[in-house]
Amino acid sequence: MKIAVYPGSFDPTTNGHLDVIERASRLFDRIIVAVIKNPEKTPRFSFKERMAMLEASVPHCDNVEVESFDGLLVEYVRQKKACAVVRGLRAVSDFDYEFQMALTNRRMAPEIETVFLMTDYRYSYLSSSFVKQIAGLGGDVSGLVPGPVTAYLKRSRQKKGER
Ligand code: PNS
Repeated sequence: MKIAVYPGSFDPTTNGHLDVIERASRLFDRIIVAVIKNPEKTPRFSFKERMAMLEASVPHCDNVEVESFDGLLVEYVRQKKACAVVRGLRAVSDFDYEFQMALTNRRMAPEIETVFLMTDYRYSYLSSSFVKQIAGLGGDVSGLVPGPVTAYLKRSRQKKGER
């Protein structure tokens, strides 16, 4: 049973994330999408909302589960008995950060491999930050995020407007 963990802040899930999940689910027996509870940057959505958005986006992937984690990623991966961490690569600009993170994790846990999956070229420019910006300014995010995520973005804009 090959288990892989796909960690991230998913604030919110984009079609790029979904593309990576679908690719990973064809390579591994089980994928645990692990939502970090407290990322370095304060997230727009709570971890419960970020998990709910993911759960609503992956019902078609039988071997995908959504969980949350806190603390060191490698400790969580060990606890889950997973052999790999999956990360998505969009453009060369992602490489530096991903390279550092993969080698830092390898230093702490040499038995865990980081596997990079390239997103489809249609999503190579897509980021959660731009999605939040576009939605916050009333732009159209259809085609950029899974359907269920649109409602969360709309609600978040309404809440902001009320403040
Ligand atoms: O979606 P993101 O924000 O690029 O995901 C980053 C994440 C959550 C994978 C990374 O910050 C992480 O693994 N954090 C947990 C803390 C940790 O293990 N840090 C050491 C590895 S560099």
